[in-house]
Amino acid sequence: MAANWKMNLSLDDARALIIAIKRAETDFNTVDVLIAPPFTALALAYELLAETDIFIAGQNMHWETGGAFTGEISPLMLKEAGCTHVILGHSERRSLFYESSAIVNKKTIAAINAKLTPTVCIGESLSEREDGKTFDIIKSQLNESLKDFRAHERTYEELILAYEPVWAIGTGRTATPAQAQEVHSFIRNWITENIGSDIAQDIRILYGGSVKPDNIKELMEQPDIDGALIGGASLKTDSFIPIIHFYEN
Ligand code: 13P
Repeated sequence: MAANWKMNLSLDDARALIIAIKRAETDFNTVDVLIAPPFTALALAYELLAETDIFIAGQNMHWETGGAFTGEISPLMLKEAGCTHVILGHSERRSLFYESSAIVNKKTIAAINAKLTPTVCIGESLSEREDGKTFDIIKSQLNESLKDFRAHERTYEELILAYEPVWAIGTGRTATPAQAQEVHSFIRNWITENIGSDIAQDIRILYGGSVKPDNIKELMEQPDIDGALIGGASLKTDSFIPIIHFYEN
């Protein structure tokens, strides 16, 4: 269960939320929990989560290890800040900051080389879905974002994919479990064909887009949905904790 805080929460609010998550008595044999705070809250998250089973992710990064890239952050900087994971190619990065799949590909390979686990996001827009192009878009995003990934075989099992239909993000309009399952199954088949069947079974494919306490269980019952990437509902204790405790119901 991965929390993407996006550009939200003051340090005080972040502290209160992390402390509540730590106290939630989560069964870490059943669920892995990952929190992606804004860069300015990474140090706080690391301080509070150092001795726990909760993982920390960056929300983005540059592909170079350092240099003249004003406003950017490198894979090594994320690692130093305590991150084990990084979210890459979120649809907000793709649409608002013009990040192409070619850029996502460079970042994915840089993350792997730095031993950070990339969580690579893909998903179609509403017009692409309505035009019947969902699978074409997913396929081309996978082809381009994971290009040359074969050369990095040792870390295949470390890759995480997140299917986030753009029309379901922050809209309250979640994909039905069947709609999500259909695309997740397509993604797993793509991995079988392009990377290998063992890896396809191991790779976690998360669903993101208006995940809430009242839809998480049904989503998680789908055979190819292995977890969730949660935006709005990850910002509050009373919605995030029931989501990470989905296995109790
Ligand atoms: P919401 O859960 O707010 O729809 O956001 C989903 C998302 O973009 C997570 O990365």
